[in-house]
Amino acid sequence: MTEFRHYPEIAKLGAAHLYTPDLDKSLWFFHDILGLHITARTDTKVYLRAGMEHEHHSLVLEAGDRARLDHVTWRVKRPEDLEGFHEILTGNGTDVAVEPPNAEDGIGESLRFQMPSGHKFRLYYDVEKTAVADADRSVLLNQPYRSWHHGISVRRIDHINLWTTHDPLAQHEWLSDNLGFKLREYATGPHGRIGGWMSVTPLVHDVAVMKAGPQETTPARMHHLAYWLDNAQDVLRASDILVEAGFALDQGPGKHGVSQAMFLYVRDPGSGHRVEIFSAGYLIFDPDWEPIEWGMKDIKMALAMWGPTDYMPHVDDNIMNTTTEA
Ligand SMILES: [Fe+2]
Repeated sequence: MTEFRHYPEIAKLGAAHLYTPDLDKSLWFFHDILGLHITARTDTKVYLRAGMEHEHHSLVLEAGDRARLDHVTWRVKRPEDLEGFHEILTGNGTDVAVEPPNAEDGIGESLRFQMPSGHKFRLYYDVEKTAVADADRSVLLNQPYRSWHHGISVRRIDHINLWTTHDPLAQHEWLSDNLGFKLREYATGPHGRIGGWMSVTPLVHDVAVMKAGPQETTPARMHHLAYWLDNAQDVLRASDILVEAGFALDQGPGKHGVSQAMFLYVRDPGSGHRVEIFSAGYLIFDPDWEPIEWGMKDIKMALAMWGPTDYMPHVDDNIMNTTTEA
């Protein structure tokens, strides 16, 4: 019998750490309107989580001179997976910094590194399961906060969509080879890969990496951070709450072809960061899932089965202008 040695695995998307030039306004959006809960804060940094999240945070908002994504965190499946990923990443030539506990509040020792695209990641295992105040606690023993506690009351973080000016195919291969992400669906233009949706969970994507438009000057950026609601109807309720609060929806509601999810996009008025409200996507359980390819003739269906179809105007530019870089 040969000795079994498991490969390290990522369990889930942990959090996004975003900078905002107007922390108070961003906090109003993410707390009062989206309905996230604050678990820790300083004068310049606030940690938040959604109503169904037991772990310390899924979002860090930090005051800064401009809006940007600082980094994305991922929780690994087992404590020893940090060492496993350290070995794989350094073996493949990636610089990895080992950071002590509480580099972000609530999490244990972590690894920091960046994708070839420049997007920064952090891996961790240990995390605080923050207690809920009695006044906020759900009657449900399996749910931290009361249902519909305030605002849209998003349930959990769902995925993050990253844009790169580099070749997206190379990023997808890097995520697969180094971190074990599986390609679930992808889009191809005449010059190659223009986007891919990848996951380590049964979700169609925990992360998407898309080709940025040729006009982009930032090589690594975030297109949006998505939070989940349980039902398609809840996305319509979210639309009402947003419009009643004075928002113009960025796009939606509509239904994506990729993932089949119901969605809307809205911007944080404090930072301009785009947030997606996302629901009713399909799940993948097949261990031998074959990635679904959407070609040029299918691209508009991939982005929106119905509802808005003009929210990624650069896609047409990409189809015409995307070239595969070295
Ligand atoms: Fe999305």
